[in-house]
Amino acid sequence: MSLPKRVKIFEVGPRDGLQNETALVDTDTKVALVEKLADAGIQTIESGSFVSPKWVPQMAGSEAVFGTINRKAGVTYSALTPNMRGLERAISAEVSEVAVFIAATEDFSQKNTNCTIAEGIERSAKLTEAALAEGLQVRGYISVAAGCPYQGEVAATDLAPLAKALIEMGCYEVSLGDSIGVATPGHIKNIVDAVATEVPVDKIAMHLHDTYGQALANIYAALEMGITVIDSSVAGLGGCPYAPGATGNVATENVVYMLNGLGIDHGIDLDKLIATGDFITQKLGRDNGSGVARAMLAKHSSAS
Ligand code: HMG
Ligand code: MG
Repeated sequence: MSLPKRVKIFEVGPRDGLQNETALVDTDTKVALVEKLADAGIQTIESGSFVSPKWVPQMAGSEAVFGTINRKAGVTYSALTPNMRGLERAISAEVSEVAVFIAATEDFSQKNTNCTIAEGIERSAKLTEAALAEGLQVRGYISVAAGCPYQGEVAATDLAPLAKALIEMGCYEVSLGDSIGVATPGHIKNIVDAVATEVPVDKIAMHLHDTYGQALANIYAALEMGITVIDSSVAGLGGCPYAPGATGNVATENVVYMLNGLGIDHGIDLDKLIATGDFITQKLGRDNGSGVARAMLAKHSSAS
């Protein structure tokens, strides 16, 4: 099977990554992270969320982040928005685009957004209509698409109507979230096949957490199926506050290194990206979750 010539990286570290940190990260650090990612060549950066601060305190300062970033031409600074209140905040913060999120299981929908799947779709549709009227593009996520921490297995065929609903309400793309990082490549192929019965492949993105170490293999499987948009998080930051045990997203450095090896274009400077991951992990006082970054940092420090 042929691989795509170009892949778009949708960086989610400043949102999906930092939302799960126990220590509160100050605005200057968040802003520096976003600016460094843009400087490394990343063109789409989910830079925060406008959710309830009671639910996710780490994202409470997103207004200040969006208000302070020195925005680079050509870069999309997006935000996650759960409801109309979130959209209003996002519009005031002059975000470039917003994302809505629904879940593949009732239990996760309740834990993450305190509503049923049907209510989540209704809420997202209302939000999408209002966002489009404001001239904002809207992206849609489906969480726990490959397995749920509360309900277990998720049937691939359950995803197709959810993806269809997101596209029909006006989302330009659906990102399939393996929130707990349990999928394997065969599973990914089934999921993409099932969703592709309702949504064109060029409107499907993959959002893979790396809990079981399968994310790169899963991305390769997705690339073989024609997927060209990959969500990832610098230094493998993150997890999901409502998915116990879930570790971070696949590390952006690992994806970029693999794409380099495959000769697939992405427009990102790997050295600058590694420096960015090193910056944020040092600020957070945590290990770098990217094997590529750890190896290249060790190589540089032994050479100097
Ligand atoms: P609720 O408690 O049902 O809502 O939460 P509510 O309307 O009763 O509001 C509760 C309080 O929050 C009220 O304040 C509201 O004003 C306030 P109070 O009156 O008690 O002082 N509130 C807000 N404040 C600021 N901004 C808002 C907002 N909305 C309400 N937008 C709600 C419902 C959806 C708000 C809540 O469940 C929520 O915020 N959930 C988001 C949880 C979240 O961010 N999860 C992580 C992101 S999803 C994810 O990581 C998965 C993904 O990465 C894909 C994958 O990995 O699969 C996308
Ligand atoms: Mg996620």
